[in-house]
Amino acid sequence: MTYLEIKALLQKHGQEHLLQFWDELSPEERDCLIEDIENLDLMEVTSYFTRAIKSNESKSLLDEKIQPIPDSSIESIKTVLPEQLQKYERLGLEEIAKGKAAIILMAGGQGTRLGVDYPKGMYNVGLPSNKTLFELQALRIKRLQHMARELFGDCAGIALYIMTSDATHETTLAYFKENDYFGLNENQVKAFKQSTLPCFTFDGKIILDDKHKIARAPDGNGGLYVALEKEGILSDMENRGINSVHVFSVDNILVKVADPVFIGYCLSRSADCAAKVVSKRSADEPVGVVCLVDGLFGVVEYSEISKTTSQLCNDKGTLVYNAGNICNHYFTTEFLNKIAKNYSKELDLHVAKKKIPFIDASGTKCKPSTSNGIKIEKFVFDVFKYSSKFAAWEVLREDEFSGLKNSDSAKEDCPTTARNHILDLHRRWLLKSGAKNVDGNVEISPLLSYAGENLVDIAKDKSFRGPLVLN
Ligand code: UTP
Repeated sequence: MTYLEIKALLQKHGQEHLLQFWDELSPEERDCLIEDIENLDLMEVTSYFTRAIKSNESKSLLDEKIQPIPDSSIESIKTVLPEQLQKYERLGLEEIAKGKAAIILMAGGQGTRLGVDYPKGMYNVGLPSNKTLFELQALRIKRLQHMARELFGDCAGIALYIMTSDATHETTLAYFKENDYFGLNENQVKAFKQSTLPCFTFDGKIILDDKHKIARAPDGNGGLYVALEKEGILSDMENRGINSVHVFSVDNILVKVADPVFIGYCLSRSADCAAKVVSKRSADEPVGVVCLVDGLFGVVEYSEISKTTSQLCNDKGTLVYNAGNICNHYFTTEFLNKIAKNYSKELDLHVAKKKIPFIDASGTKCKPSTSNGIKIEKFVFDVFKYSSKFAAWEVLREDEFSGLKNSDSAKEDCPTTARNHILDLHRRWLLKSGAKNVDGNVEISPLLSYAGENLVDIAKDKSFRGPLVLN
């Protein structure tokens, strides 16, 4: 496009300020800016802005519309019979052995609260082994494959798809490569990039990150569905014969990757879409809850219900809206295909007010100290309403969920809590396996145990003193 054509297009959408530094740009910078603008579907992105703002403004309390998850759609690890749990696990391991289970690790976030300039998965929370989140998760896959092989004689392997973004793609790929995929096969690991959307000022102007560059951010973890189709992941899954997909966020240090119990539970219920949930810590914990909204499954944010509703208890004294969402889901590939093909463009758009670096009118790069604009995000859980057979599976927070969101100064959901939670879990595994004493930081390699199994020979009647890594 010529300069005049670009200018006319921008004027049509109220975005002509993107050319404000044109006269100062070098020829290469002009080419860059033109390419950036040409790659934008201006009609689409400006309508996204309008839609996102509208749905944000029209948000009212949902108290009248919601109902808790029906008992028939949820089961809890706290109450399930041990034989049933074993059945679920066996079913899940069978799916893994047949090569029908895959993982989507969502690792496209910018990790702004944690404040590191590299992908969160490469974060080392200070375990005795210094293993990073990515390494822990990859080794858990190896252990699971071993368990499936032991039970079924062979294991086709678990495909690991890593969703990255412009912010994390190259570094993540290089990290896996440098570390020899942590013992997984190279062809088992595939990284794919989610899309980005431009960042806007509060009045709908696209922000310039540089005089010749538009400010962009990943389109939220719900960008997954568009990316799966666009990046050829759905066809890759089809070629590999995958049926069950476990989707979770990179920042949960306790995550049971490709959890066979969860997979088996979903298979036994013929669920097409499912969520792992944990009991809320208290009525005012600011976490989304899984429930019914107008009769369809969804996640309701803490801010979308009144205090009275969030405090409602049943006759056993348990919160009625207690199913805390932990970004840990099961989908069949059929369901993912259905969403990608029919609904990915319809997903709700959420507004995140953020501090977005920008170029001011004088051409100086500024880093604002308060929110100056919005990022538009889609959420991975906004597809529950399209499920024809939804299931929730309640697990124990202390065994399965500890998010790494903040730096240590926040004192919660931070490196110290993540490290303490995993070491506490390992201490409990050892004691349960017969250890007499566990003092200090004793860590268990994922290659030795996935979920506390395989430790009796090592632990029985023994005492352990950390720092120590059991390999
Ligand atoms: P969060 O929004 O909680 O974390 O994402 P974040 O984006 O990493 O960090 P902040 O908000 O900037 O501090 C939850 C999960 O969703 C993934 C993240 O990588 C994390 O695993 N995610 C988030 C994406 O994959 N893409 C996104 O666009 C946003």
